[in-house]
Amino acid sequence: MAGPDREFPLENDEATLERAQQQILVCQDSQALKAVEREYLGKKGVVARLLASIPQLAPEQRPQAGKTANQIKQAVAQAIEARQRALDAATLEAERSGAGFDASLPPARALRGSLHPLTQVTRELEDLFQSMGYQVLDGPEVELDYYNFEALNIPADHPARDSQDTFYCDEQGHFVMRTHTSPVQVRAMERLTPPYRIVVPGKCFRQETTDASHDHTFHQMEGLVVGVDISVAHLIGAMKTLLRGIFKRDLEIRLRPGFFPFVEPGFELDARCPFCQAGCSVCKRTTWIELLPCGLVHPNVLRAGGLDPEQWSGFAFGLGLSRLVMLRHGIDDIRHLLAGDVRFLEQF
Ligand code: DAH
Repeated sequence: MAGPDREFPLENDEATLERAQQQILVCQDSQALKAVEREYLGKKGVVARLLASIPQLAPEQRPQAGKTANQIKQAVAQAIEARQRALDAATLEAERSGAGFDASLPPARALRGSLHPLTQVTRELEDLFQSMGYQVLDGPEVELDYYNFEALNIPADHPARDSQDTFYCDEQGHFVMRTHTSPVQVRAMERLTPPYRIVVPGKCFRQETTDASHDHTFHQMEGLVVGVDISVAHLIGAMKTLLRGIFKRDLEIRLRPGFFPFVEPGFELDARCPFCQAGCSVCKRTTWIELLPCGLVHPNVLRAGGLDPEQWSGFAFGLGLSRLVMLRHGIDDIRHLLAGDVRFLEQF
């Protein structure tokens, strides 16, 4: 915007002021107002130039000229402020009167949360086991080396102790992030009076390179039954009920020998693939899926829990909840489970 180029002596102060006021009145937003402000009150604006030219005036004209320049300055500033207030009020009024609001538009979709698929499976299984007389127990995620390994008959040179697999929490190696839910077996034995049945759902941690089937954090559900003359037959019975609960029908099962230091004998329990008859990608064309490792509680573990193996016996199992959720929903990468991506979670 071209500014007035007139300098002192002012021929007509009123004309300058009037022109400024007219410019201000037609401003429709604060950006335009700012431009007028710069033109009159800016560093190189009209008022600044008026003030700068005062020294060239005759001495007796100078006081009046200074006064006039300051009056213009004040009047312009006031006019700008008044215009800004008027613009603000108009905006507010437009908002209040609902301009631009369409009451016939559908409302924004309310976002509803849902239970994480791991929580869903955990709760279902807790219900199922509670209906069979099991108690649901909890245990610490930062665990003593003693409960995580030693009390479970895992000797000091067992590969699972390798720092590759275990997150140690202190220099001495007394505390670990539990690598499985099994440590709660001995904790339970110390607290409860047999006979009893417990399940322990929870997080486990392993220090390993993550890939589609391994994550540093995953979920298991430990099971432990302690009583008199507990046998593999009891174990099989309980596992069949578990399968019926998960897959809503009876599935053939088989036991293969498996080694775990805290059970003897130890097994891998497989179930007939619930998704096919002749082999599919889930069962890798074998028609069997690995369901869980299990076995009869090792006498050393019973002893660590303060129980006499001559009097008490038991079975235990370690159900991989993360794997189960993946099986159920056809999830191909375990890392989705804890990634916290809403696009993934919204599907459940
Ligand atoms: N704790 C074992 C693991 O995480 C799984 C396991 C195997 C648990 C056999 C058991 C069991 O209770 O009997 O690798």
